[in-house]
Amino acid sequence: MAKAVDAAATEIEYFSRNENDCVEVVAVVAVVVMVIVLTMVVGALAVLIGDIEVPSQVFGEATFVSDLFDRLKIDGVVGLGFRDIAKRDKPNVFDNMVSQGLVQAPVFSFYMNRMEADDRQSRLMLGGVNPEYYTGDFIYVNLTARHKWQFKMDRVQLFSGMENFSENGCQAEMDSTSTMIIGPRRDVIPLNIKLGGRPVSMPGPYEMFEFDCSSLDNLPAVEFIINGKKLSLSSEDYVIKMDGRCLSGFASRKGMLRDGQRFWRLGNVFMRGFYTQFDKGNRRIGFAQAKH
Ligand SMILES: *[C@@H]1O[C@H](CO)[C@@H](O)[C@H](O)[C@H]1NC(C)=O
Ligand SMILES: *[C@@H]1O[C@H](CO)[C@@H](O)[C@H](O)[C@H]1NC(C)=O
Repeated sequence: MAKAVDAAATEIEYFSRNENDCVEVVAVVAVVVMVIVLTMVVGALAVLIGDIEVPSQVFGEATFVSDLFDRLKIDGVVGLGFRDIAKRDKPNVFDNMVSQGLVQAPVFSFYMNRMEADDRQSRLMLGGVNPEYYTGDFIYVNLTARHKWQFKMDRVQLFSGMENFSENGCQAEMDSTSTMIIGPRRDVIPLNIKLGGRPVSMPGPYEMFEFDCSSLDNLPAVEFIINGKKLSLSSEDYVIKMDGRCLSGFASRKGMLRDGQRFWRLGNVFMRGFYTQFDKGNRRIGFAQAKH
């Protein structure tokens, strides 16, 4: 019975609410996802993902969503973080699949496409990895925090170490809800300047840069050193083309510190370059070159 399911290959099946379906109305909670505010009613129902039925899944039904939701091509939010029993978190759908033996391994993985330049959709695999979407072997790194997809990164560099950033090591966290790679000001500002970027003013807490769209061919790879191995992110992945502009995928903000160390948040820009495997069983993350 146990297997892996490609969650993006089929639609997650939805339910229509009926008063009797909400067997267990536990609480009304508010969740903030970026700037989206949801007011939810929590209940428990069976959820169908692909052809796997997950019984007794606690879910929140949004009874109010902000307008921003209308502009996004999403139907909801699925949490894949760690369960913090101290905070009385309910198991998410993946943890439920694992504890009920519905998937072959406590691993999920993401392939992120290159937006319109890619004819393939992004993918979330529950229960394993999909070799059609990556090449080579995985590079693994152990987690450094109990309830977070966080690990130690050795440094970020350009030109095989001619320029180093966070060179004494730092902490990094995978964040599939973040578009950009966000890092400390003292690393990301000089990195963007070395890449030839110029600052752009944007509303919000982030400092952003842009490149001359005609110079993209000359942009070097940005190299992430993780567990002593080099992961090279090409400009095809770290440049965000938007409204005729070419934004740098590296943004900075104040206060990027975690556990007393410099801290990087690795979002979609990073995951486009590297197929990412979240291995809950072994408490590690694996990266392989994404196949575009
Ligand atoms: C990662 O964790 C595993 C299991 O605890 C351990 O055997 C291995 O040595 C660790 N690797 C590193 C690089 O710390
Ligand atoms: C960058 O870091 C590497 C590894 O510590 C080191 O070998 C190299 O000399 C550093 N580069 C510079 C310019 O300091």
